[in-house]
Amino acid sequence: MRTHPIEIAPSVLAADLANLAAEVRKVEAAGAQVIHFDVMDGHFVPNISMGVPVLASLRKATSLPLDVHLMIERPGEYVEAFAHAGADRILIHQEATAHLDRVLAQIRDLKVEAGVVINPGTPVATLVEVLDRVDTVLVMSVNPGFGGQSFIPGSLNKIRELKLMRPRYNGTYRIEVDGGVDMKNVADLVRAGADTLVAGTSIFHTADPAAALRQMQTLAHDSLTQKV
Ligand code: DX5
Ligand code: ZN
Repeated sequence: MRTHPIEIAPSVLAADLANLAAEVRKVEAAGAQVIHFDVMDGHFVPNISMGVPVLASLRKATSLPLDVHLMIERPGEYVEAFAHAGADRILIHQEATAHLDRVLAQIRDLKVEAGVVINPGTPVATLVEVLDRVDTVLVMSVNPGFGGQSFIPGSLNKIRELKLMRPRYNGTYRIEVDGGVDMKNVADLVRAGADTLVAGTSIFHTADPAAALRQMQTLAHDSLTQKV
């Protein structure tokens, strides 16, 4: 039985950022349930993307939930600013703080959903102490920092493991996957147990992002009834 509805989360990192509101409207009109927003600081990952002011502007442009993925060092110093800028979900990396439990509690105290993220080289076992109190566990299926990378197949086993662990740890968490998600792997990801699939390049780097999103949603739902 599924505990969460399947969501495809378009990642605006791959959108035309000079036209962010219009880009988001395209996928919103096509039925997107959530928007993924990548924050990079040039330290935790070797790239810099966007931050609090862009999120605040995006908040005014859409009513969809905003899934804010912090690829930054010292996330505890910034969660309040992102919450005030309009984040509905804040996800922090297990590798980015020595005080995972504390920062997750900080996020929950701000009345924002709290999520934890693991890099490809980090085992699921590092999360067992927090699995009973996170809203989302995000499995990175590429090394974070850039869009357009190839999916790392070993991520499927982490998703399966998290699905098996959920009842054992009284977890209610959503299982999310981010990086290299495309039309070819979406069915396998859903069958493995992914609830939220982040997709940047495979949606926004196409001629018709709305059509790409709809196709991915159809593939995700059909995979549950074994049509694909
Ligand atoms: C990568 C980011 C992803 C990125 C995914 O570090 O966290 O959210 O936007 O992009 P694609 O779907 O192109 O791999
Ligand atoms: Zn991301």
